[in-house]
Amino acid sequence: MSLKSKDLLGMQHLTFEEINSVITSAKSFMEIATRPIKKVPVLRGKTVANLFFEPSTRTRISFELAARRLSADVINIPALISSAASGETLTDMAKTIEAMTVDFIVVRHSMAGAPHQLARQIKSSVINAGDGSHEHPTQALVDLYTTKEKKGYIEGLRVAIIGDILHSRSAKSNIWGLKTMGADVVLIGPRTLIPPGVERLGVDISFSMEEGLEGVDVVILSRVEMTEENRALLPSLREYSRFYCLTEERLAYAKKDVLVMHSGSMNRGVEISPQVADGAYSVIIEQVTNGVAVNMAVLYLLAGGKK
Ligand code: CP
Repeated sequence: MSLKSKDLLGMQHLTFEEINSVITSAKSFMEIATRPIKKVPVLRGKTVANLFFEPSTRTRISFELAARRLSADVINIPALISSAASGETLTDMAKTIEAMTVDFIVVRHSMAGAPHQLARQIKSSVINAGDGSHEHPTQALVDLYTTKEKKGYIEGLRVAIIGDILHSRSAKSNIWGLKTMGADVVLIGPRTLIPPGVERLGVDISFSMEEGLEGVDVVILSRVEMTEENRALLPSLREYSRFYCLTEERLAYAKKDVLVMHSGSMNRGVEISPQVADGAYSVIIEQVTNGVAVNMAVLYLLAGGKK
């Protein structure tokens, strides 16, 4: 098993078989977290560099743990104290890091396409840990893995993605991944936060929580916040919450065994009520645990998939 490309840049071009390989490998790596010594020699001698130009808790830490559990060496390069702060271009910086024989560069950047640009210019494997509002493939792989673990299958499930779809890179990656795996997808949110023309990807759109949640198997929430861009698109967070906060009453429209996931840091009381976030249907903490195994699988498969 391996991934066809040297890089993981997005879900758009991953095949059904490749996504299944990640899910299958992640399942075998889950067991390592239960051992007294959480290490296997799969990537011994390899080096992983974490290059994050935006804040991250889940993705950065889970890549560091994933690399260490596979016995790779890890370097964390904080953007603010790196030469990016003195104006060095991303490509020059990545070439500098590569010159020190780094095998994987995990990159998060505010510019859509930044990891793709790097991947064309360096020989190391580039993993997109989130580029602007474009894609966040490893978060989508975590969500797919969690869905498969909890439901046993993905094909035919109805999945609602709720929130700021326009700016959510995880939502975009989830749309591509879920469609490839044969799920039905409904996007729910205010008209201004749904990307124009997105229905061409074969998704349904609903502007009403009650209508959109009807018969849904899985709910994936994205964070909603009052960014500079959203000031022109949303009257207020209070208004958003009034119509779109996932409350227990609204969740009752979904199937009885619905799963609730969140693809980033939660804004409690805005997109999700505390009762739902901490309730019986929530698998938000399990997503975080699964993230380490999924990122181990990504590194392992990009390295050729040989144990
Ligand atoms: N899901 C996600 O990207 O979370 P972080 O920003 O904490 O990495």
